[in-house]
Amino acid sequence: MTGKALAGSWKRALCTGLMGASLYGGAQAAEPDMEAGRALFVNATPACALCHTLDDAQSSGAIGPKLDEIKPDAARVETAIRNGIGQMPAYTTLSDKEIEVLAAYVAKATGAQ
Ligand code: HEC
Repeated sequence: MTGKALAGSWKRALCTGLMGASLYGGAQAAEPDMEAGRALFVNATPACALCHTLDDAQSSGAIGPKLDEIKPDAARVETAIRNGIGQMPAYTTLSDKEIEVLAAYVAKATGAQ
C-alpha cells in the first residue's frame, strides 16, 4: 500500500466516525433512554412521582397534573424541571443530561412524541 492510499483510508475512517457521532446524537433524541428516565422520575429529590401520576412509572401523585393527561412535550417538561412552576420546585441539582433524559422520557411515556 502506498502512503497516499493510507492517508486516504484514514480520512475515510475519520469521516465515518464523525458521521456516526452525529447520527448517534440524532438517534438519542428519537429513542429516549426509558429506564434511566423512569429511574430519575422516581428517584429525583423530591421525586416527580410524589406529585404526578404517570402510568409508565406506576406513580399516582395527585399534587400536580396527571402527566398522562396533559401529555407535555419534552420542551415543556424541561422548562418545568429547570424553572419550577406553581408549587413545583426548580430542580437545580440535576445535570443538563439528566434533565434531557427525564424530559424525553416523560414526553415519550405520555405519548406526546
Ligand atoms: C412538590 C410536588 C411536585 C414535584 C415534586 C414535581 N412536580 Fe411537576 N408540577 C407540580 C404542580 C403543582 C404543577 C402544576 C403547576 C401549575 O400549573 O401551577 C406541576 C407541573 C408540571 C408539568 C406541567 C408544566 C406545564 O407547562 O404546565 C410538568 C411537565 C411537570 N410538572 C413535570 C415534573 C417532573 C418531570 C418532575 C420531577 C423532576 C416534577 N414535575 C416534580 C408539582 C410537582
